[in-house]
Amino acid sequence: KKKVRISWVCNNCGNVTGQWWGTCRSCHAVGTLKQFSEANYGDKDKISGFEVSENVMRSWLPQQKDEAGPIRLTEVSRGMSQQDWRIALPGPFGNEVATVLGGGLVPGSLVLIGGDPGVGKSTLLLQIAAHIAERHDPGVPAPVLYVSGEESLEQIGNRADRLRIETEELFLYSSTDIEDILEKVENLSPRALIVDSIQTVYLTGVTGSAGGLSQVKECTSALLRLAKKTSIPVLLIGHVTKTGDLAGPRVLEHIVDVVLYMEGEKYSSHRLLRSVKNRYGSTDELGVFEMSESGLQAVTNSSELFLSEQYSDSEVLAGLAVAAIMDGSRTFLIEIQALCVSGSRVARQCNGIQPSKADMIISVLIKQAGLKLQENAIFLNVVSGLTLEETAGDLAVAAAICSSFLEFPIPNSIAFIGEIGLGGELRTVPRMEKRISTVAKLGYKKCIVPQSAMKSVGTSGFGYLKVIGCRNLKEVINIVF
Ligand code: TYD
Ligand code: MG
Repeated sequence: KKKVRISWVCNNCGNVTGQWWGTCRSCHAVGTLKQFSEANYGDKDKISGFEVSENVMRSWLPQQKDEAGPIRLTEVSRGMSQQDWRIALPGPFGNEVATVLGGGLVPGSLVLIGGDPGVGKSTLLLQIAAHIAERHDPGVPAPVLYVSGEESLEQIGNRADRLRIETEELFLYSSTDIEDILEKVENLSPRALIVDSIQTVYLTGVTGSAGGLSQVKECTSALLRLAKKTSIPVLLIGHVTKTGDLAGPRVLEHIVDVVLYMEGEKYSSHRLLRSVKNRYGSTDELGVFEMSESGLQAVTNSSELFLSEQYSDSEVLAGLAVAAIMDGSRTFLIEIQALCVSGSRVARQCNGIQPSKADMIISVLIKQAGLKLQENAIFLNVVSGLTLEETAGDLAVAAAICSSFLEFPIPNSIAFIGEIGLGGELRTVPRMEKRISTVAKLGYKKCIVPQSAMKSVGTSGFGYLKVIGCRNLKEVINIVF
């Protein structure tokens, strides 16, 4: 008789316990625990399939007891730690990827790249694979292995043609059997391993079909052990399932070192690569790419990504103001549109701005700046479908409303940064200097900021940009309108 281990897995957060609980002890969701039984791996005689490549594969297999016991902190060896060196990825494309990874690919790391089907994960990873294979030291062979359980070699070959990949050092392999894959890795000893995708691979002896929870978890753990033992970085693709399925990458986030998510709007060719977990760096980083005919290209002028076409000063519309917001360590300029209609039914509608935030700014404009907005229908919109989450955009929202109400277009050479308080006062926001430099770099002439920010940023060093400090909304209105 087979020994079976029972475990309970939360299908909300993936937490595993040995016991049933009414609420998950990790994420506190109610009634989400599901029972799983896993064969006992230690019992190798009773599970067929394990004997086959036992000698080679033993070390990757689950449930190995670690020989070494606890070690004194003072006796832990302090050689060059893995985090001290990274595989550099030069070039615009590589730099963009390296930034998100926190400065390059760390040897021995397990990186999960998640995203909706069709967003471009396979494309990204094939490009990264080729990039690593191409940029090795001359004379040193640096094979990179791309394993796909999703597509045939022919399909991958066709994609590689499209991406104009020609490197000799990229190896493709089509397989879904983890043991088989790991054996090939051992023979080839690649500089990096890519597995597309975790939902298609399986480990013999683990219950459930490929893509099921136990399979996904055990396969990931096997890849983690491979990465740690060999220092080969492993990049793993995971689909995000619409239903938030158990086998979605969420479950894996606990196991892997780095989690990146690839996002993209349906009708836009831009793709964002976002780090949501990184054991080797900040999770603030964001990579911006554009999906082109020949694959993903790094977007270098990402700050202006969300700006609509630039009008010349004579054709600027009233009700438009530009704000500098941050996402991770990047600055973006965005446009806020406002439309005030007097005499009609009083109504308010917000797109991309929290209604409560809009109400607050409108009330402050009425009370503290004396604008007679009470009788107006006001519509607010963030251009290009973004959502304004930062308070740094407050001032631009207020300026857009003023501009529409006064029917006075704001010259498109002015940008606004600042938070608005209930007294109409302007408050400074984090990373002022970075925001202002971006505004300067994009050729703006004036930047309106809170007076309190002037001390720290100063007025020089921004080229032709004039930085103007204002204490409150009244001062802003006097200067701009
Ligand atoms: P893919 O990498 O297959 O997505 P995923 O692996 O995340 O499912 O990419 C899917 C889309 O990308 C597909 O609709 C075609 C498009 N694409 C391009 O626009 N240009 C290209 O060079 C490539 C390879 C794909
Ligand atoms: Mg794919």
